[in-house]
Order: sequence, then structure tokens, then C-alpha cells
Amino acid sequence: MKEYRINKHPIIATPERNLIHFYWQEQKLTAYQGETIASALFSHHIHTFGHHHKDGSPQGLFCANGQCSQCMVLVNGQPVKSCVELVTEGQHIEPLEGLPDLPPPGKSTSPTHIPEYQVPVLIIGGGPSGLSAAIELGKLGISVLLVDDKHRLGGKLVLQTHRFFGSSSAVYAGTRGIDIATKLQSEMESYPSVEIWTNSTALAVFSDQKIGVLKNGESYQLIKPQVLLVATGAREKFLAFPGNTLPGVFGAGAFQTLVNRDLVRPAENLFIIGGGNVGLIAGYHALQAGIRVAGLVEALPQCGGYKVHKDKLHRLGVPIYTSHTILSANGQDHVNSITITEIDSRFKPLKGTEKTFACDSILVAVGLDPINEFYKKATEFNMPAFAAGDAEEIAEASAAIFSGRIKGCEIASFLGARTKPIPAQWYDSMEILKSKPGKLHLEDSKSCTAKVYPVLHCQQEIPCDPCSTLCPKGLISLQTEDIRSIPQFNPALGECIHCEKCIAGCPGLAISLLDYRKDPDNPFVSLPVEFNQKDIANLSEVTTVDIEGHILGTNPVIRVKNNPKNDRTLIMKIQAPSSYADKIAGIRLQTPALPEEISSPSTDLANETIICRCERVSAGKIRSLIRSGSRDINEIKALTRAGMGACGGKTCTALIHRLFREEGIPLSEVIDPSNRPLVSEVSIGVFAGIDKADQHD
Ligand code: FES
Repeated sequence: MKEYRINKHPIIATPERNLIHFYWQEQKLTAYQGETIASALFSHHIHTFGHHHKDGSPQGLFCANGQCSQCMVLVNGQPVKSCVELVTEGQHIEPLEGLPDLPPPGKSTSPTHIPEYQVPVLIIGGGPSGLSAAIELGKLGISVLLVDDKHRLGGKLVLQTHRFFGSSSAVYAGTRGIDIATKLQSEMESYPSVEIWTNSTALAVFSDQKIGVLKNGESYQLIKPQVLLVATGAREKFLAFPGNTLPGVFGAGAFQTLVNRDLVRPAENLFIIGGGNVGLIAGYHALQAGIRVAGLVEALPQCGGYKVHKDKLHRLGVPIYTSHTILSANGQDHVNSITITEIDSRFKPLKGTEKTFACDSILVAVGLDPINEFYKKATEFNMPAFAAGDAEEIAEASAAIFSGRIKGCEIASFLGARTKPIPAQWYDSMEILKSKPGKLHLEDSKSCTAKVYPVLHCQQEIPCDPCSTLCPKGLISLQTEDIRSIPQFNPALGECIHCEKCIAGCPGLAISLLDYRKDPDNPFVSLPVEFNQKDIANLSEVTTVDIEGHILGTNPVIRVKNNPKNDRTLIMKIQAPSSYADKIAGIRLQTPALPEEISSPSTDLANETIICRCERVSAGKIRSLIRSGSRDINEIKALTRAGMGACGGKTCTALIHRLFREEGIPLSEVIDPSNRPLVSEVSIGVFAGIDKADQHD
């Protein structure tokens, strides 16, 4: 049977893992020990995990982060989130068809004692900010308990195969996200005062200032910290469009989880919605995993992410449609195509501009919302509480590292364990790292008369400085001391020695190196490449492109070098005519997809678009309540069940807000839903101290 796994990845080593077996609808299948049920199913191309109780529509994975509750399956008759539950040997897994049956009455048990702990600091979340805060506290010997709902620490860092931007001296710029996670984790583990609970979900902050935690997925504990740090990261925003609940529509983070953490292949041909950094990077990660990217739409006239990320996709052959949006995801049981449309300046579709592309998956990358429910509850209950990283403000992971460091020190000061002031420079650095992409400098690079020189295809002010630290002769510098300024090559300071360190170390893959020494008319051009060596080493020629992906020519490949010092970045050397050699910024990997003739969906579908995916409540139903005067989301919830499903309103509330805005109602007139204390769903028995295994005996 064909397996949908990534057995060779250019950046991620394939780990040695034990093979186990499980049963899906009584069919015996293989899995790797330590992977989630969802990944095990995806590795066998099983994307439909059940059917919805209301309309019988197929359901599958959306967030892969335990947030949306769409991925439920039955294990031993009990519903579990397949994206967080690990597969085990001999497990019998069934799809969840409709609502699960109530379990038979359990044996009579008495509530048991709930263990309670007091700790100076509780950190919820082991991503970049939580780990960084724990390190600062650990350095001072302050006792910290860090809980994280995943089996592996690092948060979103473990999904990032690319080198990070930012400051080389302050936050690991130039290092790959997956490696930053390992560095932070091992530093934190070196401090004995830090205790770590993985696979442990924080469930609620209660009014007695205790936090309920389901330790190791089964044992309920209450923690009473002196200070709480919420470092829970962010959840992806959902988007309303017809077909948005079809299996094959994922959040971009879910896709990266499957591909980069679990090394499974969820798609063969995907389309991306959203041109921010998340969408652009996810597209690059897909190409690295050998998955075709049919295109990307961005509603604004320009992509919001870094230009270097956008340029990389353009060069590799991914069409980017700005001022476009998705009209529908098409398919019966799974996505099989996408229809997009151009939009006007008020984001209204322009009739006649619809285009349909074949694809088997659609990534939604339209932004992130802070996971800040714990912080809000803690402040409501007057707890000493701090928030760090994306839970406080959505920004790059490098800014989250700084935010965690600062919050760790602020907590130490609050506890009286630190008297030194926090360096003002840390706050400045954090603000710089949070900067949005800045001004473009599109002027042509000045021609250089040197025989060997780098061309810097870096045209936008972004916080990034590794190139200025890599040249052993000091010939590359930033134009000012601000790490957001544009880099420049200074031939007057000396001769380039062709060491290739700058091209290998630039996080944006935006430097090429020209060498005219052997043939002044046909210089060699060295380029960074991050794809499987075996796929590109045998290429005799490549299509070369300029910075934005325009084809320049077809040029012979001289060699592909894999220097271990370059940390998995290959250097491809080609030869090209001097007339355009300095314009070459990359190679084309795939032929851009063309639209297909498929009839466009009817526009009536807009009202049938699902807003609450847990309860399958349509936009039309909510819109008619708004039109009839409803201004209270609690009322809408009571009348339609929108927000009453398993995810607890985490995905639909923002979409209901959007419907209000579309109807011209300012949000100041809208009453938000009352949030219940529980942030994650859990069996009622855990509150009586009954372990999971005992609940249905
Ligand atoms: S896909 Fe599992 S909870 Fe969202």
C-alpha cells in the first residue's frame, strides 16, 4: 500500500522510529510510535475522519493544534482529538459518524483527592516565549513549572525549517527555527529549578486563582502559582467561503505540522490563501517537501509578508495573485479545485474574473489570533499574571523570544529575586523585531567592476543582519546601524575571496555570487538552494530567473556543492552570459499552473457558507438574525448554536464579528459571548479526580 510519507527532506533528518500497527475500521495499518493518530491516518491518505451529525458532511483535520475539534475520531468508543492523541500499538480507531454515543454507566467510584501544588511561577506554553522566560527564571534559581499540551516543546519553532531573520547577536538570526527550539529547550533543561510537564493541557483559570491542568493527558491537578505567565501562542484565523469545511482545507500551521514535524505528505498540489509571512513560508516548505504549489491569493494589492519570502516563491514558479480572494473550495468529499476571483478596492469580487485551478488542498493563512483566554481570566480574578509572545501580541518568533526573556526578568523582579534593571536595549530590540516589512529600495544594484563579487537581492527594510556578520573580509555591511537597513557590498574595502559564506547564510536566500575570473563573457554564478541534493545534483541545466521570477535563460549547471559548514544549504554553480548573469537570483522549480475551465459556483453559496463549523451554522442564518436586530452574540448562540460546539467558539466568533461589519454594524454595538472558564473540552470525570482509564470501566 502506498504510504504518504516524506522519506527524504532537505533540512529535516528522518528519525529512526519503531513501526507499530493500529486498526482503522478494522483494517490493519502501520504507524510510527510517537506520532499522532491524525498523522498516522494521513500517512495512509485517510483525510476524512467522520461525518457531521447535522448535515452528514465529511470532517477532517483543520488546525492540528487541538483548537478546532474537527479531527475527532473514536478510540475504544470514546471521542478523541486525533491531532493531539498519539497512536498506540493495536489501537482500534473508528471514524466519528455523527455524535458519539454516551458511554455506558461507569462503575461506581468515589471522587478522589485532587492534588494541589503551589509554585512560585507557572508558565503555560513551551514555545519560544515560554522557553525563553523559563531560562531567565532558571538562571536565578526560581522554581518554575512549565506546562505544554504537546509532546514536544518548541511551539511553532519546531515547524520552521528556514533560517530565522532578526539580529545575529541577540536572537539566533541565521539559525533554523527547528534548531532554535532544540537550543532553547536544552538550555532550559540545564536549570534544575525548572520542572516541565509535556502533554499536559491547562484547562481553566478559576476564581480562587488556581489553574486546572490535565497532567500527561489523564491526571487532573490544581496549581496555585504566585505568578502566572501565559505564553500560549496563537491560533489561526478561520475564513468564511463556500466549501470551507471540506477535508483538504487546512490552516497553514496544520499543514506545516504534518509536513515538518510529522513528515507526512498531506497534499500533492495545493493552493494558499494569504500572502503574509505564514502563507509565503508554508508555500516554500511545501516545495521543499516535494509538494506542488498551484498558486497563492492575497486580498491586498501587495503581499504583507517579507518581499524575500515572496520573491522565493515567485522564482520557484508559484504564481501569486494579489487583489484576489477565494470564491470557493470545490469538491464533494474532498477539495479537488479552488475558484478565485479578482476583487476591487472594497474587496468586492469583480464579475468575469473568476479562475479555477485544480488542487487537492487549500491552506488558509489569513492571520493569527492570540490565545489569551487564560490571561483574560487571570486578570479578571486579580491574579498576578503576565502574557508573552503571540499570546500578548502577534509578531515574529524572534520577537517572541525577546518578549519571553523580558517577561521572565519582569517576573523575577516582581518576586524580588532580581534587582538589576532590565536593559532598555532589550525593549528596543523587541520593538525592532516586531517591525512590519518596511520601505522598498527597488533601484538596480550598481554594476561592479570586481572579478568576484556578491549581488545582494535584498530590497526591503526588514529586521535582519546575518549577511553583515558573515563576510570574513568585512565587505558586506548594513547601510546604517539599524538592522532593518539595506545591506551593501563595499568592494573598496578589499577583494571578495569567493568563500560563499554570505550566499549560504542569508536567511532570505537573496545573495548570488559572480565569478568572472575564468571567462569574462560567461561568468560563473553561485546560488543557494535548499532542496534534496539527489533531486538537483543530476540536472545538467536549469531555467534561471531574476529576483521576481522572470525567466532569464537556460544555463548549464557546473556543480552542486554540499558543504557541511553551510548547514544544509546547497550551493549550485551555473554559467551564464555576462549580459544577464548579475540579474540571476534563483532557479525555477515548477511550471506555473494555468487556470482550468470548470464552471464557477453560484454566488448564492455565499449565504450557505459555514461560519460555525462545529455546529454547521451558515452565514445566511446569522445574517438574517443581524438584519432582524440581533446585536448580542449570546442571543445568536442561543438561537442558532453558533459558538456552542466543541471548540467553544474559538473559530467562529471572529467570523460573526466580520458578518456584523459587513452589515455595517460597528462592533461597539455588539455584545460578545460570555466566555466559560474551560478553555479545552475534557471528560467530566477528571474533575472528580477519576483517571481517564477508570472513567468508563
Ligand atoms: S484539527 Fe485537531 S483540534 Fe483542530
